[in-house]
Amino acid sequence: PDLRDLYQDVIFDHYRRPRHFGHLPHPNRSAAGHNPLCGDRLELELQVGDDGCIEDVAFTGEGCAISTASASLLTEAVKGKRVREALALFEQMHGALVESRAVPADALGKLHVLEGVRQFPARVKCAMLAWHTLRNALTQIGTVANTEEQNETGAR
Ligand code: FES
Ligand code: FES
Repeated sequence: PDLRDLYQDVIFDHYRRPRHFGHLPHPNRSAAGHNPLCGDRLELELQVGDDGCIEDVAFTGEGCAISTASASLLTEAVKGKRVREALALFEQMHGALVESRAVPADALGKLHVLEGVRQFPARVKCAMLAWHTLRNALTQIGTVANTEEQNETGAR
C-alpha cells in the first residue's frame, strides 16, 4: 500500500469527522493552545479520575486539517490512559516530529500515522498544537497529579 495515501486518508477522515469534538460536562483539566504562525486555536478538556486515569477528553476549536486530525487522534489515544502514559506519548510525538528521533515501530500505534506529517515539515506546528495543549493541561499542578505521584511512589 502507498503509505502516503494511507496517511492522507486517515488525516482527512479525522478532519471531516473529528472524534470527541465538543465539551465535557465536568472537565477538571483544560488548556487552550494557539499556533502563532496562523492564529488557529484549540481548547482541550479532560476529566481525570482520582486514580490518575483520563476518563474522558474533548476538544473544540477551528484549525487546519492537520491540527484538527491530530487533535482527534490524540483524544482516541489518551482516553482511558493514565496521565503519565499520556505524557509519555507527548514525549514520543515530540521526539518523532520535532526532534526527528526514531520511534520504535509500534510505540505510537495508530498515531504512527502522523509520521506522514514528516512529509510536510512545515506542518509540524500544526500537528503538535493539540499535543502541547495536552501537556499544558496535564502538568498544571493539581490534586490529581499529586495523587498519582503518591500512587506511583507507593507502588515502588
Ligand atoms: Fe515547540 Fe514542541 S516545544 S514544537
Ligand atoms: Fe493553523 Fe495548521 S494552519 S494549525
